[in-house]
Parts: sequence; C-alpha cells; structure tokens
Amino acid sequence: MEDLSALQHYLNRIGHLGPDEEIKYTEKPGEGNMNYVVRVGTNQRHFILKQSRPWVEKYPQIAAPVERSQVEATFLEKIQGVDELENSCPKLLWSDPQNYILAIEDLGRSSDFTHIYAKHEKISSDDLESATIFLRRLHKLPLSTFPENREMRKLNHEHIFRFPFLRENGLDLDATQKGLASVAAPFKVNEKLKSEISKYGEIYLAPGRALIHGDFYPGSWLNTNEGIKIIDPEFAFHGPPEFDVAVMIAHMMLAKQGKRPVKKIWKLYQPPANFDTALFSAFAGIEIMRRLIGIAQLPLELSIADKINLMAKATEWIEKKNLAGEL
Ligand SMILES: Nc1ncnc2c1ncn2[C@@H]1O[C@H](COP(=O)(O)OP(=O)(O)OP(=O)(O)O)[C@@H](O)[C@H]1O
Ligand SMILES: [Mg+2]
Repeated sequence: MEDLSALQHYLNRIGHLGPDEEIKYTEKPGEGNMNYVVRVGTNQRHFILKQSRPWVEKYPQIAAPVERSQVEATFLEKIQGVDELENSCPKLLWSDPQNYILAIEDLGRSSDFTHIYAKHEKISSDDLESATIFLRRLHKLPLSTFPENREMRKLNHEHIFRFPFLRENGLDLDATQKGLASVAAPFKVNEKLKSEISKYGEIYLAPGRALIHGDFYPGSWLNTNEGIKIIDPEFAFHGPPEFDVAVMIAHMMLAKQGKRPVKKIWKLYQPPANFDTALFSAFAGIEIMRRLIGIAQLPLELSIADKINLMAKATEWIEKKNLAGEL
C-alpha cells in the first residue's frame, strides 16, 4: 500500500473511491506495533486504513492472528447508535474482510496518551472521566454475537499470565534497565504466586459476561481536539469486565498518577453487584507485573526502587485481593 497508484487501484477496484477521487498522499498516523496503519488523503477527504497481516508489523518474525481486523470492525459496528460509545470511537467506514483491511474515520493528527508515563505528566480529570464512562457503558451493552477472538486472547494470555514468570524466557531485562533482572527473579520462583496467576489466566480465557475492549491502556486512547477517543479494540471479546477496569487502574499506577485518579475511576465506574472485586484486584496486580518484567515494556520513568515497590503492591493485590478495599 506504500505505492499510491496501487492503493488507488485497490480502492477503485473495491468501489470505495468516488469517480473523481484521487489519492494525494499517505502518511503514518502514529506509532503502532501490530498492524499496518496509514492515513490516506485524497482530493476530497482523508481516512485511516488498517490492515492486519499474519504477523506483527514491527516484528515480522512473530506470528499474529490475522482475523483481528474483523474483530475491530465488529466492535466498531456494535457500538454504533449507542450514546456515550459511538462518539468516543472512530466510525467504521467499511471493511474488506478478504484482505483484512478496515477503513475508519480519521480522528486527526493527534497523539495517544503514552506521554503520561513520563514524570510530571498527568491525564486530565475530564479525559479520565470520559474514558471511565466509556468502560461503564461498554460493559452494560447487552451481549449479542461477537467473534470469540480466541487466537488473540491466547496471544495476550501468553504475554500477561505466563511468559513474564518463566524462569528462562530469554528476555534480557537488564538491557531494559540495569537491575531489573534481579527485581524479576523472586517472582519466577514463587510457585504459589505463579499458580494463582495461572488460575486467573484461565478465567481470562473462559467466556465472560460483557463485551470488553481488551487493551484498555493509554496506548489505546487518542488525545484529540474533541477530547479523549478510544481506538484499537482488536483484543475485544466477551470476557470479564474486571479485566478492563483492572488494566486501566494498573496503568494509572505505572504512570504514577497518584491515588486520586484511581479512586475516581472506581467511583465513576460504579461496579455492579456482580463485579468480582477479588478478580479485579488480581488482574490489576498481574498487569503491573507483566508490564514491568514482561516483553511489552512501556516508556516508564521509574527507578528500580519504584519498580520493587510496585511489584510488592501488585503481589499484595494478587494474594490478598484487597485493591477494592483501598479505593
Ligand atoms: N482513527 C484514527 N485517527 C487518527 N489516528 C489514528 C486512528 N487510528 C489510529 N491512529 C494512529 O495510528 C496509531 C496506530 O494505530 P493502532 O493503535 O490502531 O494500531 P496498532 O497497530 O493496533 O497499534 P498497537 O500495536 O499499539 O496495538 C495510533 O497510535 C494513532 O496515533
Ligand atoms: Mg493494536
């Protein structure tokens, strides 16, 4: 798709360009790892194309389930017409399942929220509120058919619940930060904790009661002129809503946002009676751990001492299941 005339030909062939519409430019809209994502500008408009390929775009040697683009398309379809959801995400313009391509509304040249991992960067109270209300509303959607997304869940399961805790996983944590390997070491031999974590991994893999986003962290939030927008629901499935809320809160901790935003999320989310606070607590702890000692590293500005403290807190949340009690 790098070649403008090939792209023009493709879009004409599938009938998604107007008769006098001509592609003028393409550009990379922002950082991503998994997919091929491009902004397409024509003489009449601009939009985003996203193609999944059977590998991870940034690491072509790593295989990745290609059906993920259809999961994303289905998610965007399902939220159409739902107040508080459709305006928080880009509109789906069309999808071409045969070529694993979707076209979505361009939300403009904007960055995601991964800058909040930097020291002294805070997410605004309004943005936090909108993101939380999005989750609350999403988890209340009545269930209808949705792809199982089994392969993407397996991929996530591996990197959240298993790989970070393997004694020999080949990851050179000291190359990420000197001293990090010894932070991880005790967790890799804590069989009791590891068996707890694998139990939660099974719950992640089992069918759940809500449509969840599945990757609800600052990299999936865009900072646009119209406020925060939620993108990239390729890990969505019918799963445990506790997972999304736990991941969101874990990232507030990783980004050192303080207790206030965490409490605010909890208050605004208004967990329903069937919300499993023990599961929520454990998922949050596990997300913190896997981001610190697993492969999906973040642009964190934390010292080794900070990481030791976070790992201790995360352990407590997994073992004592007491996160909700602190909120
Ligand atoms: N609808 C949109 N409007 C404007 N920019 C967008 C839009 N969708 C994506 N982008 C930009 O492209 C980047 C990559 O998009 P996205 O996160 O969907 O791709 P990805 O390959 O799934 O990324 P990752 O590997 O992080 O999951 C985003 O961070 C954002 O900067
Ligand atoms: Mg993605």
